[in-house]
Amino acid sequence: MDFTLQVWRQADARAPGRFVTYRATGISPDMSFLEMLDVVNERLVEQGSDPIAFDHDCREGICGACGVVINGRPHGPRPRTTTCQLHMRFFEDGATIVLEPWRARAFPVVKDLIVDRTAFDHVIAAGGFITAPTGSAPDANAIPIPKENADLAMDAAACIGCGACVAACPNASATLFVAAKVAHLAQLPQGQPERWDRVLSMLAQADGEGFGGCTNHGECEAACPKAISVRFIGQMNADYLRASLRRGRRAAPADAAMAG
Ligand code: SF4
Ligand code: FES
Repeated sequence: MDFTLQVWRQADARAPGRFVTYRATGISPDMSFLEMLDVVNERLVEQGSDPIAFDHDCREGICGACGVVINGRPHGPRPRTTTCQLHMRFFEDGATIVLEPWRARAFPVVKDLIVDRTAFDHVIAAGGFITAPTGSAPDANAIPIPKENADLAMDAAACIGCGACVAACPNASATLFVAAKVAHLAQLPQGQPERWDRVLSMLAQADGEGFGGCTNHGECEAACPKAISVRFIGQMNADYLRASLRRGRRAAPADAAMAG
């Protein structure tokens, strides 16, 4: 297969970026999108040119490192598919493919298609943890948890922190990401001690990092490769309201409107 790539090249966060056109020829339909980029980069290196910088790690859809806006869609055209799991057979032979980085104020461009997602780490550090001593795995397995809660916790825990939800949102909101983390721990007994502080702290941190607010577009769920449901946002907002009341504060009207 042959493709024309229009790739966003940008030296760093402060440098102006621009699209540069490359040819990707002789590509196997069974290659992943990242393997196709590997081929292009090998040729660029052979020519003495600067390879296209892109992020990746596991290449198995589980680490969340990869992420490219492909033809305007985070992770490309396939639902529930990370960029590393996207195969070239899903594109038409001869197609022109446009590649861009996640675009969000809180995710500054490091280089080309790589963005700095440290903001997510800060949000997790603000409350995405537990302090209850839970022992080893066998001890944890001995804690009885209703199946419905366990299933919901597992669904929320599927979030890989890729940031596609932010990239897809017109407000560059991290609400689906935060909701997944809050909802995951809120379902479990070991998540209860910090439950109310967690939701307040993580949402405040997300605001401070420069992520936008949620206005219920739902683009996040559509872009999420792990099918994290927006219902977790409703659950998080309910927790936020309860946490605010517990602290004797009134929730902001917009938050209260979204609750539940
Ligand atoms: S909610 Fe989905 S899109 Fe957002 S970071 Fe988690 S896995 Fe990625
Ligand atoms: S490289 Fe790990 S999810 Fe894509």
